[in-house]
Amino acid sequence: MKVLIARRVFDSVVERLAAHFEVETNPEDTVFSKAELIARLQGKAGAFITGSERIDAEVLDACPGLKAVCNMAVGYNNIDLAACTARGVLASNTPDVLTETTADFGFALMMATARRMAESEHFLRRGEWSKWAVDMFTGSDVHGATLAILGMGRIGRAIARRGHLGFGMPVIYHNRSRLAPELEAEVGARYVSKEQLLKEADHLVIVLPYSAESHHSIGAAELALMKPQATLTNVARGGIVDDAALAQALRERRIAAAGLDVFEGEPRVHPDLLALPNVVLTPHIASATVKTRLAMANLASDNLIAALTGAAPPTPLNSEVLPLKR
Ligand code: GLV
Ligand code: GLV
Repeated sequence: MKVLIARRVFDSVVERLAAHFEVETNPEDTVFSKAELIARLQGKAGAFITGSERIDAEVLDACPGLKAVCNMAVGYNNIDLAACTARGVLASNTPDVLTETTADFGFALMMATARRMAESEHFLRRGEWSKWAVDMFTGSDVHGATLAILGMGRIGRAIARRGHLGFGMPVIYHNRSRLAPELEAEVGARYVSKEQLLKEADHLVIVLPYSAESHHSIGAAELALMKPQATLTNVARGGIVDDAALAQALRERRIAAAGLDVFEGEPRVHPDLLALPNVVLTPHIASATVKTRLAMANLASDNLIAALTGAAPPTPLNSEVLPLKR
């Protein structure tokens, strides 16, 4: 059987897959257009993909031999899951292995935003230190401030735990469903309405999955509810926040600052955000530690190997298609 590894990955991962399959790689690490992805997937039984490859009904119909698509990411809004299931194609993601690493980054980005680390670093690099003043780069405290989490999945809980246990932060959250009381107690979190969350937040951290339902969950109306001293951090997906509305709120100082690891239409970044001083911008790297990226790649490989050899994939998204019939 043949498989495509759509982006450049660790040699050890290619070797593992090559022990089971005839492997096509992408050593130039180009991001394939849809047409190129379809061309590369001809004759392939499986695909190892990342968030940069979109698997939809058109791709699946053009690649009738494809039986499994294994995403090296926890978020899977790049995969049309219903279209996969309807065609008997197994899809998988990489939950759990990145939870703590992503929570570390979310917390770090929130802190960098509150304490104006990017803005002050740029000042230093520009050689302007001699302009130092006592009221310069005064941000807002993280310890003791209200941590507001939108989306309380595994990563949200891991961020809440950091704030609660490490920084003495009152934690509030909003989520589609409320956590069990013992889980709320473990991370010291109090459930509130979305409106209350926005009104009470000192530091809002967004950790929702992206879907049609969460598209522009934070727009002008929601930003208008926030405190002028508040910060907003997004480590979930671009498109959950309306970037144009956010840039306007930041420009008018209706909120203090934002930390963004994800953007609408990335790798493009809204030019208004790029022009602002009160933002910390990173290129979708929240899970990027050596250990975690390797664990994610190995878990995606485990799923691919299991799916195509008739074993049980460890983290399927649509186990109802098993055993594979396509
Ligand atoms: C990264 O964004 C992921 O979903 O794993
Ligand atoms: C992702 O793993 C989440 O549940 O937040």
